Amino acid sequence: MSGTERPPLIVAFCCHYCAYAAADLAGAMRLQYPPSLRVVKIPCTGKIDASYLLRALERGADGVIVAGCLEGQCHFLEGNLRARERVARVKEMVEAIGLSGERLEMYNLSSAMGQRFGEIAREMEERVKRLGPNPLRRAAPAPGAEAVATTPITTPGGTPGGTSGETRKPGEKP
Ligand code: FES
Repeated sequence: MSGTERPPLIVAFCCHYCAYAAADLAGAMRLQYPPSLRVVKIPCTGKIDASYLLRALERGADGVIVAGCLEGQCHFLEGNLRARERVARVKEMVEAIGLSGERLEMYNLSSAMGQRFGEIAREMEERVKRLGPNPLRRAAPAPGAEAVATTPITTPGGTPGGTSGETRKPGEKP
């Protein structure tokens, strides 16, 4: 990577109950994962809509992770199963417009799987490095500008730098 090249931007939509807790645990354990990872907390992956995923890619994310509870353990019963179907559909849509569906992946985690969260983040980073930058990124606002680019807020047990923080837009109240 040259000095002017930006690190891959990865957005991780994490359900509040398990995946977000795993991300927080990874931060508390001070595990290494990409500094450009942005964790977005959602109530359940069942809340994920195709438009969220497409918007993230449209805004220049190189990779998008959807992380929910283990199958059979969704706090809203089948949210993670519905999310898996949506992610599969969006992968097809993304392929149809000429992007690689590999830029998007669904994972299932328990709240104790901090180590696995770190592995997933690194796996996605390696994957998007292999794929190269999102071609839509050139036209997208720079990270830090809007929606995808949000300011990481450190939560108790988390570390500064956005590894485990809830995100929100600059200036937005918690
Ligand atoms: Fe975690 Fe539904 S509450 S995926």
